[in-house]
Amino acid sequence: MKGVNATEIRFVHARRVWDSRGRPTVEAEVRTTSGATGRAIVPAGASKGTREAIELRDGGPAHGGLDVQRAVAQVNGEIARAVMGMAADDQAALDECLIELDATPNKARLGANATLAVSMAAAHAAAAAHGVPLYQYLGGPDATLLPMPQVQVFGGGAHAGRRVDIQDFMVVCPGAKSFAQAIEWTAEVYRHAGALMQARGATFGVADEGGWWPVFNTNEQALEALVASIERARFVPGDQVAIALDVAASEFGKAGRYTLGLERRDLDSDGMIELLVRWCEKYPIVSIEDPLAEDDLDGFARFTRALGAKVQVVGDDLLVSSPTLLRQAAAEGAANTVLLKPNQRGTLSETLQCWQAARGAGYAGIVSARSGETEDTTIVHLAVGWGVGQLKVGAFARGERMAKWNEALRIEERLGARARFAGAAVLGRNPAHA
Ligand code: PGA
Ligand code: ZN
Repeated sequence: MKGVNATEIRFVHARRVWDSRGRPTVEAEVRTTSGATGRAIVPAGASKGTREAIELRDGGPAHGGLDVQRAVAQVNGEIARAVMGMAADDQAALDECLIELDATPNKARLGANATLAVSMAAAHAAAAAHGVPLYQYLGGPDATLLPMPQVQVFGGGAHAGRRVDIQDFMVVCPGAKSFAQAIEWTAEVYRHAGALMQARGATFGVADEGGWWPVFNTNEQALEALVASIERARFVPGDQVAIALDVAASEFGKAGRYTLGLERRDLDSDGMIELLVRWCEKYPIVSIEDPLAEDDLDGFARFTRALGAKVQVVGDDLLVSSPTLLRQAAAEGAANTVLLKPNQRGTLSETLQCWQAARGAGYAGIVSARSGETEDTTIVHLAVGWGVGQLKVGAFARGERMAKWNEALRIEERLGARARFAGAAVLGRNPAHA
């Protein structure tokens, strides 16, 4: 349908659905004048940064206080009234309207879960109205870059009852030539890691994001098992398949003190840095997320000076997808890569602004899922549409994770000969910070 009003928002509706931990979350639907429909579900974190946008939960006795009826009501009431008649394909104006309507610095009134559901559903409706896939709607004909997948093999930290301190033991495939090949290689490593755990009598299912349950006596044992799994899968560690970690240090570190529960060790910032430097010398590690806590910008900067030329230093809890925090960190030389999680901010536009600020500062980026996920695949389209170059969605198991890997496979196939793969070059290393 042609005409100026084809993408005008005519219908907004939210409902409560359930995430991969069996917890309530928000789904929104947006429909335009032309009948184009978009739908999106919001995810939820467990090891959250304190400066993230606020997700509205009901409290009270139902569902452990985690119900989202208030957020659903915000969408069906105030938000629906405010965005009705706006153009679904003017994302910036739509998101600005949500920000102004909320009128707090962190979506505390409407809830980032309410605003993001609408922000994402509107993008889907706009893409549908234009008759193109979301990644193409977002990025145009240049959106041809398939991301390097960061795939969890062992879970840990807050996602595995703190069985080990480190949260994510992951692999990336710098030697792969396509997204499909990286996924195929990862499948082999993940399978061999499972067999290795079984041979040790240490198979106890999987953690929140699908990584094997980390039955180890030290954090380093997990690194050894990961290298062994890469070798058993017949890949060259470092060259073909390398290691990425999410230390998620805010979970066990505060005010410069870090308590490794598994090893009964207390370290200061420099102790943590030394430990990680040693691991990087010993194991083929190419990326480390949140090596220090969110309140340790100084330690982050020292860590980046020590390792930033060799290793991708990723800020998640440190940066919470905020353009303001990104600029502050860049001024200090802290981190060289940003993790982008739309629900840390509550709109697509603010998340994109953070990515633009990151690019301006010479940072690399990784679009990331949360530990509480669903079948929603919006983030895959963001990674390709914004040309971010890396994607982290958890392990190589569980439907909510596989839905994302499989969506990226479809996009790569659809792009055909135009598809480019991020490859080794994308792993952010910023010599300027070294
Ligand atoms: P979360 O963890 O989704 O539980 O916050 C993911 C991460 O730290 O990257
Ligand atoms: Zn993280």
